[in-house]
Amino acid sequence: MTIDNDDDLMHLKSIGRIVFETLLLMKKSLKPGMSTAELDGIGARNLARYGARSAPILMYDFPGHTCISINDEAAHGIPSGRKIEPGDVVNIDVSAELNGYFGDTGATFTVPPVDPRIEYLCQITRKSLAAAMATARAGAKINQIGRAIEKVAINAGFSTIRDLGSHGIGRSLHEDPHFIQNFYDKSDTRTLSEGQVITIEPFLSTSADSTVTAEDGWALLTGHGNRSAQYEHTMVITRGKPLVLTAL
Ligand code: CO
Ligand code: CO
Repeated sequence: MTIDNDDDLMHLKSIGRIVFETLLLMKKSLKPGMSTAELDGIGARNLARYGARSAPILMYDFPGHTCISINDEAAHGIPSGRKIEPGDVVNIDVSAELNGYFGDTGATFTVPPVDPRIEYLCQITRKSLAAAMATARAGAKINQIGRAIEKVAINAGFSTIRDLGSHGIGRSLHEDPHFIQNFYDKSDTRTLSEGQVITIEPFLSTSADSTVTAEDGWALLTGHGNRSAQYEHTMVITRGKPLVLTAL
């Protein structure tokens, strides 16, 4: 959506704060031995506290309130009885709706002890998000987002997952501009406009550049031994720096 009044902005900030707070609460609660369903329950209770509804359930009938993806799962992991173990790489993605407005945020956390190369992957993925956000302003080409992400990834020796990307958001979880690439697509001539609401969510991995759907029909797998990281914010495009909505 494109914001055209203060009321839109107020509602988007409200749901943005709720999903971000929920993500931070889940991060704080994350510990080895707990199941991903327990962790999801903590997120679900926090969303319910505000009357916010899980977007994956609302939009896609997803079997969980949040997506919790571990190790070779890049995204859309279903919360289950699976216990979190030392050395796991855990991605939590929280998206929800309140009063007809949507917010979407995600982050990857490691459970010690973890390979330093995986910590580096996380650090580089955060760096690629910052680089992409620096290009995202009114009038800029949308493909500059993927170009910035890909450059940071390649320079550090990592891959971008090409079938996962960022997206427009606001009145729905996924809306125009649909699918903002994680890599430089020269043929993409779309531009960003002032007030446009989008997510930026780079997905970087140790080697894989695509995913396959797991037998459960949801989790997106990158292949045995591969590890990936994702960080996501929802933001409003301005003539300067984007205004981040997924913040406290
Ligand atoms: Co998300
Ligand atoms: Co998203």
